[in-house]
Amino acid sequence: MNQTLEEVGYLDIEVDPTLDLFAEIEKLKKEKNAVILAHYYQEPDIQDIADYIGDSLGLARSAAKTDADIIVFAGVHFMAETAKILNPTKKVLIPDLKAGCSLSDSCPPDLFRKFKEQHPDHTIISYINCSAGIKALSDIICTSSNAKDIVDSLPIDEKIIFAPDKNLGAYINKVTGRDMLLWNGTCMVHELFSLEKITKLKTRHPEAKLIAHPECEEAVLRIADFVGSTTALLEYTQKDSCDTFIVATESGILHKMIQGSPSKTFIAAPPDNACACNDCPHMKRNTLEKIYVCLKYEQPEILMEESLRLAAKKPMDRMLEISK
Ligand code: 13P
Ligand code: SF4
Repeated sequence: MNQTLEEVGYLDIEVDPTLDLFAEIEKLKKEKNAVILAHYYQEPDIQDIADYIGDSLGLARSAAKTDADIIVFAGVHFMAETAKILNPTKKVLIPDLKAGCSLSDSCPPDLFRKFKEQHPDHTIISYINCSAGIKALSDIICTSSNAKDIVDSLPIDEKIIFAPDKNLGAYINKVTGRDMLLWNGTCMVHELFSLEKITKLKTRHPEAKLIAHPECEEAVLRIADFVGSTTALLEYTQKDSCDTFIVATESGILHKMIQGSPSKTFIAAPPDNACACNDCPHMKRNTLEKIYVCLKYEQPEILMEESLRLAAKKPMDRMLEISK
């Protein structure tokens, strides 16, 4: 190994290419009483080997109730951190420490603390896509699945700061009639969808419905037939009678959509750049090889100071209580 784990982000160990990684990972899971939790944006092989696949709310709930000794979190850093916040005695592993999140990075705790100090009379609702440091500065956490319910649970005249995603915040302002103060953060994947290209696609496929994640910009959400979290989008494609869907979110979700409705057509909404894909570069840092190595050597591990964990857990518990 030439570089340190911190520099590379994962254990840089060559994996024998003849190994049956599916079988090896299953064996290690049993031996170590480990579970793999994966987000829908993971590559198909990882989704297929996972014990639980879900959106951020589903993943937080299953992290809170697992009785495994080891949790391998196939997602990004803030998700693995969330699992650690809820499971201090368990070993939480992430296949690649460098699997970050542009949205989480757009809200550094030092700057946010100053912002909070400028608005001492505001309640802080933070989207789960943030660091433990931001969670610790918040009153309640929400996900894209329960953001409306969390906001609705507060009195109508409550002054609220919503962080870090301005698009989700603006969407929730619209559907709840609130005027929350929004932190100016965005997701690098969802803010890239091109309204012009999507409009052209809709013209070419008049029978198709456009479904979008609320992290997308307002212009895209305005023309969407349905807006929801990844789980809500998936369920919509299964229940709705439409046969063709234009999907404005990360491309990983298409795997489950196709599995759930093999006779339907799914078209990935085009982003506003030369690339035809909607992959999150952070989510896609994880590979089956890295999952195998991380499970075998039990590294990289998520570690957190207990005072930070306790402060970050409070608003998480409030969310889980409200959205039971
Ligand atoms: P959900 O899966 O909770 O909708 O979140 C989407 C996302 O961007 C996760 O990084
Ligand atoms: Fe973050 Fe966006 Fe990637 Fe989700 S898709 S992990 S919000 S950068």
